[in-house]
Amino acid sequence: MYKISFIGMGYVGLCTAVCFADKGFKTIISSKDPEKVKMVKKGKPPFYEPLLEELLEKTIKTKKLEAIVGRKKAVLKTDISFIAVGTPPNSDGSVNLKFIKETSKEIGQALKEKKNSHLVVVKSTVPPGTTEKLVKKNIERQSGKICGEHFLLCFNPEFLREGNAIYDTLHPDYIAIGEHDKKSGDTLEQVYKQFYGEITPPIIRTNLPTAELIKYANNAFLATKISFINTFANICERIPGADIKKVAEALGKDHRINPHFLNAGLGWGGSCFPKDVKASIIFSKKLGYNPILVQATYKANQAQIQFTTQKVEKALKTLKGKKIAILGLSFKPDTDDMREARSIEIMKKLLKKGAKITAYDPMATSNAKAIMKEKINYASSAIDCLKGADCAILVTEWEEFKKLKPEDFIQNMRKPILIDGRRIYDPKKFSKKMRYIAIGLGES
Ligand code: UDX
Repeated sequence: MYKISFIGMGYVGLCTAVCFADKGFKTIISSKDPEKVKMVKKGKPPFYEPLLEELLEKTIKTKKLEAIVGRKKAVLKTDISFIAVGTPPNSDGSVNLKFIKETSKEIGQALKEKKNSHLVVVKSTVPPGTTEKLVKKNIERQSGKICGEHFLLCFNPEFLREGNAIYDTLHPDYIAIGEHDKKSGDTLEQVYKQFYGEITPPIIRTNLPTAELIKYANNAFLATKISFINTFANICERIPGADIKKVAEALGKDHRINPHFLNAGLGWGGSCFPKDVKASIIFSKKLGYNPILVQATYKANQAQIQFTTQKVEKALKTLKGKKIAILGLSFKPDTDDMREARSIEIMKKLLKKGAKITAYDPMATSNAKAIMKEKINYASSAIDCLKGADCAILVTEWEEFKKLKPEDFIQNMRKPILIDGRRIYDPKKFSKKMRYIAIGLGES
């Protein structure tokens, strides 16, 4: 079995590394951050992700996974290195490739010393052309070696959803391999066949830029699907009795559409969709093409924030001095990640109009505090959050919020008005007892 290293201890690096280690590969994960390495060595993940902690503890204990500081050492001690460093957005939405540059240079320096061949696999999301023009070039320059001869190179996108990252690593729908040359692709295919055995998913092999584009196209398509259903949700709201949930249920039965990513709501956030959609627009424009559809997807998502705050304003007449309860802060359930969370923009807009906010999230409060600081109040439970509120907005569909009953709102709020931003409650039960406003539901 190959020895594998992962450069980068974020979601992708760590979740994939523990799975490789658990499958029996000798795996090394490296980071520049000694604090992160210290935690991981103790079996403690630096962020919350279901199933991660138990797999990390197990693989550290069995010594299948080793955490180290420094990229060079990781490369020298292994046969294959996955680059899983962050590619954060610049302020204009373009991709910041600083960490990719640094990493590829250090890999090149390590390969200069290494006798055996090495496969480098870029997993970080990068604009088409980056693996060939930046990663390959840096490694060749630093190592004095030739790609395809002395070392191998692939681009291999990841499709992990936060909150499901371990499951998604173990059960992907497909694997895309962008290969510099046939031997590079063959080697990575072999690694995945060792990893998945009899349940190896379909493997799509192609060149480097096509694989890089697959990642952007995949995310832009899913984001478009959500923006599409949200568009029809907004139409439903203007037709008394119309309900987007039924529309989506019906559409999902058409096998050409399928039921996934058709949940209407406050729109998409997170570390990938916003960043990748914006990046797709920017690199397309640089190529001389204006991707109108992707732009519309993005704009529709932005508008969803405004539509939500308008609902609150309409229900309360004015927001000045009104107490709003925010249920859920993270960008989606089962994660403490606040990156591009819809809650942030919604709260900022409400604050601007003079509202007072109390928020509760089962997991993301400390990350939210770093962003919202003292501007809002933080409750210790959903009920605590509802106390004395004039309006509640369900922003993130955590399981524990699904258990709330109309009575919880009626007994605790000053005025029981609920905006169900994720359609988790039964309109029949709620509308009978209190003011229930929901995304994609035309009020009768
Ligand atoms: C996404 C992609 O799914 C994954 O393949 C990629 O590699 C990384 O980005 P992630 O951001 O973790 O994963 O979460 P995802 O479950 O895709 O949700 C993204 C956003 O879309 C969330 O804000 C979520 O609330 C929203 N969403 C999702 C909807 O509004 N409706 C849906 O039906 C699905």
